[in-house]
Amino acid sequence: MSEIALDQAAGLQQMLAASAGAAPAPMALPKPGHQASSLLDGRNRTPCRAIAVAGGKGGVGKSTVAVNLAMSLSIAGHDVMLLDADMGLANVDVMLGLTPSRHIGHLLDGECTLEELLLPAARGLQVVPAGSGTRRLAQLNNGEHAAIIRAFDELAHPPEYLLVDTAAGLSDNVTMFAAAASEVILVVCDEPASLTDAYGLTKVLNRDFGVRRVRMVANMVRNEGDARLLHQKLARVSDRFLDVVIDFSGWIPHDERLRQAIRRQCAVVDLWPSSHSAQAFKKLAELVDKWAEPDRTALDRIAFFGGRTVPADGVPK
Ligand SMILES: Nc1ncnc2c1ncn2[C@@H]1O[C@H](COP(=O)(O)OP(=O)(O)OP(=O)(O)O)[C@@H](O)[C@H]1O
Ligand SMILES: [Mg+2]
Repeated sequence: MSEIALDQAAGLQQMLAASAGAAPAPMALPKPGHQASSLLDGRNRTPCRAIAVAGGKGGVGKSTVAVNLAMSLSIAGHDVMLLDADMGLANVDVMLGLTPSRHIGHLLDGECTLEELLLPAARGLQVVPAGSGTRRLAQLNNGEHAAIIRAFDELAHPPEYLLVDTAAGLSDNVTMFAAAASEVILVVCDEPASLTDAYGLTKVLNRDFGVRRVRMVANMVRNEGDARLLHQKLARVSDRFLDVVIDFSGWIPHDERLRQAIRRQCAVVDLWPSSHSAQAFKKLAELVDKWAEPDRTALDRIAFFGGRTVPADGVPK
């Protein structure tokens, strides 16, 4: 089979099947030329870091990871915002029991500011809601995407972390927001379609937007071994065809408590902090907080906060 033919979803499936049962490979090392060096002196400045949670496939747990990671970071004492970028089919507000009276559409129409959209959720988390059942929001043009991203530049008090929950698929609504973030978390579960869709999204982000690193989180898995096996399958194919590093960034177990929390419209990390999934989210938040600040000087695409930092006096520079 030729390399070009392999670089297709069907080819990937064949590779996945062929590698099933193989021992996990060592974690991928950064490729030469890719640097995640700090731009900050690390003493009195906090980066405004945007983290997009994506995955390609629907139902893999993107919103679950975005909500619980955001709240875990908030519980750990960070200033966190969560943008629901699943425009048109928003559900972060439902997951957190919030009832927004306005959404991103009102911001785009100039009817409110971003500050006026912010909804307080539990544990100090602030949510930017998107509309649900709104066709217009599901079909935003690139100027509108840019306007939303730029609106965060105007915040008088930018957060330390902005979590961005993205939609399923490969639409501009997904890729624009993911590429504008300083980090992309790829949520993958143990299904062939999840792996092929995650690969497809990584390919678009790498080839069309120049994204050079994504972080994979395995969701709904039984143990770390299964999670690492998923990572191995994905990294093996991307190492071969793409110029991108896929880091293994942890795993969230399948947890009935998590489903129960969602039914109660609460984050599991808030409702049952000692549950298995809540502990895994706490660990993920600790890891995220250790990630080096990416070098944004090389970024030639539109980005959340445009590299802004929040110094200790709280006045953004
Ligand atoms: N670790 C887990 N354990 C048990 N159930 C989970 C876990 N993660 C997610 N789920 C369940 O999977 C379902 C889908 O999750 P979620 O809505 O977060 O997926 P999504 O990727 O955001 O979907 P969409 O593409 O539709 O936005 C939810 O019902 C949720 O309860
Ligand atoms: Mg979702």
